[in-house]
Amino acid sequence: MKDLDQYPITPDFDLWPVEVMPQAVRSENGALWVEWSDGKVSQYHPFLLAENDPTSDTLHPLSRETTLSPLDLPNDLQVVSADIESEGTIEVQWSHDRRPSRFHPGWLRGNGWFGEATEQSTEVLWTAKEHPEPPTFDGPQALVDQAVFLSWLTALRDYGVARLENLPNEDGLLMQVVEQIGPIRESNFGRMYTLEIKDDPDSNAFTSDALMQHIDMPTRECPHGLQFLFCRDNATIGGEGIYADAYRIAADLAAEEPEHFEALCEIEWTYNNRSKTTSYKATGPVIERNARGHISGIRYNTWLRAPLVASLEVQDRAYRSYRAFAARAQDQTYQMKFAYRPGDLLAFDNRRALHGRNGYDAQGGTRFIEGIYSDRDDLHSAIRSLERTLSKETTS
Ligand SMILES: [Fe+2]
Repeated sequence: MKDLDQYPITPDFDLWPVEVMPQAVRSENGALWVEWSDGKVSQYHPFLLAENDPTSDTLHPLSRETTLSPLDLPNDLQVVSADIESEGTIEVQWSHDRRPSRFHPGWLRGNGWFGEATEQSTEVLWTAKEHPEPPTFDGPQALVDQAVFLSWLTALRDYGVARLENLPNEDGLLMQVVEQIGPIRESNFGRMYTLEIKDDPDSNAFTSDALMQHIDMPTRECPHGLQFLFCRDNATIGGEGIYADAYRIAADLAAEEPEHFEALCEIEWTYNNRSKTTSYKATGPVIERNARGHISGIRYNTWLRAPLVASLEVQDRAYRSYRAFAARAQDQTYQMKFAYRPGDLLAFDNRRALHGRNGYDAQGGTRFIEGIYSDRDDLHSAIRSLERTLSKETTS
């Protein structure tokens, strides 16, 4: 790996290791083409290069954000020629007497078009057969070793569920761990909540009843992305956590029951919370797909669904597909089932991992579980930042 300090800065603060060197460069129809030592060829639009040009006076050297308007560049701006300098830095010559620009080869490699989109997903879809228990890490070690903490976070990102164990029973510890990832996202249950039995519960969660598989906060425009449950004490009989990978359920439905899968992606249900003091309401399909058709979220919670006001034909299609989803969510094939042990901190992707529990005997002993929400973006940012920090430590 090359010494990164000798390269031009990049329009960000990421690390761009130079693992493949450019071998030839040329201008073609005003765009930059780069041939790399592994035989791959990448292309760059002149506007992409100009607005990310670290040697221009329109990229702020401190914020590394551009000050350029899309209209500041000439319509017919072109790369006229290019050269490879020592260590692989690429110098670009422009039309319109624009002064030459120099680009970091690692950044160019990471931001080029190679003829097809690269698949970024690291998701591992699972059933209980492959993963009867969540990926688990030692809590006290994760608190002092950033590499272990990062392993827990990447497992959470990839599997949608990951656990720390053996944590001490301390006030404020859950909040401290979550804030190490990013800001807490509050809810109508407060900044932090305790799963306890309430005399006048505003959710089934605050009873000792069994809970069917569900996501929390389907009543929000964007439901909370992450949930953390910290078991500080548990001497009750029952109450095991039950988790299922709804992305796996959706993928299996797409393959085996495509008509139900399409209905779950198309038909919108409304969800409303049942509270005397708040009234949250949001609408969306059970399975959410992004613009590339990739499953990106789940909105599934049986007891917060409002009546579906639609034609009988639509209702029939909606109920049949919802029941097909429920049949898999309640099928043990998909269910991780495990006890909450004192010292366990379970983290899960609330928009992917369905959670539920067995009922428990409230008279049988104490049970003290704290909960906090945050969002996926904070997890992904924390992973990238920690990777950057640990990578700098290993290269310095
Ligand atoms: Fe819940």
